[in-house]
Amino acid sequence: MKMEERLNRMEHATVPPADGHAAPIAAPIPQGDEQHSSIVNPIIEAHAVVKVFDTGKVKVPALRGVSFAVGRGEMVAIMGPSGSGKTTLLNCLAGLEAIDAGQIIVDRTDIATLNDKTKTAYRARHMGFVFQFYNLLPVLSAVENVELPLVVSGVNTKEARERAMRVLELVRLKEWAAHKPAELSGGQRQRVTIARALVNEPAIVWADEPTGDLDSETADEIIGLMQDLNARHGQTFVIVTHDAGVGARCGRIIKMRDGQIIDDGLGHVADPRSFSGDGQARPVASNE
Ligand SMILES: Nc1ncnc2c1ncn2[C@@H]1O[C@H](COP(=O)(O)OP(=O)(O)O)[C@@H](O)[C@H]1O
Ligand SMILES: [Mg+2]
Repeated sequence: MKMEERLNRMEHATVPPADGHAAPIAAPIPQGDEQHSSIVNPIIEAHAVVKVFDTGKVKVPALRGVSFAVGRGEMVAIMGPSGSGKTTLLNCLAGLEAIDAGQIIVDRTDIATLNDKTKTAYRARHMGFVFQFYNLLPVLSAVENVELPLVVSGVNTKEARERAMRVLELVRLKEWAAHKPAELSGGQRQRVTIARALVNEPAIVWADEPTGDLDSETADEIIGLMQDLNARHGQTFVIVTHDAGVGARCGRIIKMRDGQIIDDGLGHVADPRSFSGDGQARPVASNE
């Protein structure tokens, strides 16, 4: 099935405003920490999520009770100082990392109830990743890298190639299909990564510092591409970035500090007195 067809069938509870971003429909002012209730038809919900890294000597509370939601078809940025828990949050939301308390609901499914095999299959079918560590394989050409997730999930080679070429066209790299990553520029490589993240037509695309290694012009182009896909296909984008320019181009900015959300971009702002100076999660002695 074509991406367009599938996405046309997708359920949309969001309204694309004039600027092209799908915006969540605001509900009445939420009470207490039930911030997620202000998103109608969320695709991602985090309820009081806690994640503690135990290194033996110290315990690092990377997420200290994170609650928020993302509406279907939203493009949100997660911003905050280095060490504030952004990557950890993304990994937990995508089910790559187990949580210590709380609940994460993705597409109406509590991800803690899925076994590893089901989780992996779910990720392959419904999620795309633009992560630094999801590197391109140097021995494969651009199109081979892009079609890899399809081949892995059992799509026949002819269809996989056709779909990979279609997505490469979408990211304007069709002429570069036969080239290996080393023969591409940084921006082109990142576009291949995005193409690979999109080839399975995922409902959610997670990106961790997708413009981190790129010059500002290329970064602009990559975010423009994501905006375009979000507006045209209604895919949900969750983008971790510390680039204010990138944040400004997302539909909403969620701000983190100290392993907590201090501003969900919907008007819920935490009391700054509850956070320490530099915004980083504080290690505490393990035997406390
Ligand atoms: N695997 C890990 N083991 C121990 N501590 C970790 C690990 N991953 C992250 N942390 C700690 O958790 C906190 C949040 O890290 P991270 O989520 O990477 O922040 P950000 O992405 O906002 O820079 C930091 O204090 C970091 O040192
Ligand atoms: Mg990070």
